Amino acid sequence: MSQFDIQNLDNSIQNLSLDDETVQDPFKDIRKLEKLDLPSFAKYMKTCSNIIFMNGAGISTSAGIPDFRSPGTGLYDNLQKYNLPNPQSIFELDYFLKDPEPFFTLSKELMPSNFKPTITHYFQKLLVDQQMVRKIYTQNIDNLELMAGISNDKIIHAHGSFRTGHCLECRTEYTMEWMKKKLEKENILYCEKEECSGGLVKPDIVFFGECLPNEFMNFRHDFSECDCLIVMGTSLKVAPFSKLPLAVKIDCPKLLINRDLVGEWQNYSTNTDKNYRLVVELNECDAACLKLVKLLDLEKDFEKLLRKN
Ligand code: APR
Repeated sequence: MSQFDIQNLDNSIQNLSLDDETVQDPFKDIRKLEKLDLPSFAKYMKTCSNIIFMNGAGISTSAGIPDFRSPGTGLYDNLQKYNLPNPQSIFELDYFLKDPEPFFTLSKELMPSNFKPTITHYFQKLLVDQQMVRKIYTQNIDNLELMAGISNDKIIHAHGSFRTGHCLECRTEYTMEWMKKKLEKENILYCEKEECSGGLVKPDIVFFGECLPNEFMNFRHDFSECDCLIVMGTSLKVAPFSKLPLAVKIDCPKLLINRDLVGEWQNYSTNTDKNYRLVVELNECDAACLKLVKLLDLEKDFEKLLRKN
């Protein structure tokens, strides 16, 4: 390239100076939130019809179901009686095949029975009824989203659930009712099919070492259509679920409702000039949902929903 061309090129680049507005706010074309706070997030939510919720065990603790990692109360701090190599072993396939009894003993406590959905579950049901929600991706196996009346086609049980179980030998399917009834008398579930050699019947929850259910594999399409991501009650410690927040479009605002900062929110701060869409509500899930009901002007609809249930 001749000297002249380079000089020309250099001049034209100089003149490409960004307009003042862009210098002031480089994210002006993708910013959707007036401020990085809950009221602004709620105001934006009112314009959304493709909200995705990502749920963890923290949304069910107020129903009396322990989460996994809260110090002291979390399940993994309370499994000493099973003498496991490590707490997570109880959900590992290899260990289950070697010694299934600890898992089935725990299942008697974990299997959804007399637990009731929380304010948070009903808040999500409220927004589903308002046609604002695309999908609910849940790690929880307690079925409380279903019990809150949310239709199954709106829910992705990323870590499976107790709704069904299968024989590991002949793949015969068993219902939760059959598993619950059997566990009242037995300590381990075996297949009852005549032609089967009596394989172990394992509830369809995803163990460490197992693939996630097929329904999870559609996440790319869901998250590319997502216009608002709300992550609730999770430590975001388990991949690939924990990576999902990275799959939304660049202009999709993201709200974390949790007792503590997790995932990309850990280095979150309102005063960095790089944050234009992360919002945090460090709070109990239920309390945060009640704040959002007010900010969304949905108190009457919510009271009606709660009265019905
Ligand atoms: N309100 C807000 N946050 C809460 C509440 C509550 N009422 N209760 C608990 N939390 C927070 C905890 O502080 C923690 O950050 O929720 C998070 C729960 O994290 P975990 O116990 O790790 O549960 P979860 O993220 O769902 O675990 C993911 O790990 O063992 C696997 O398969 C299992 O699906 C599970 C996965």
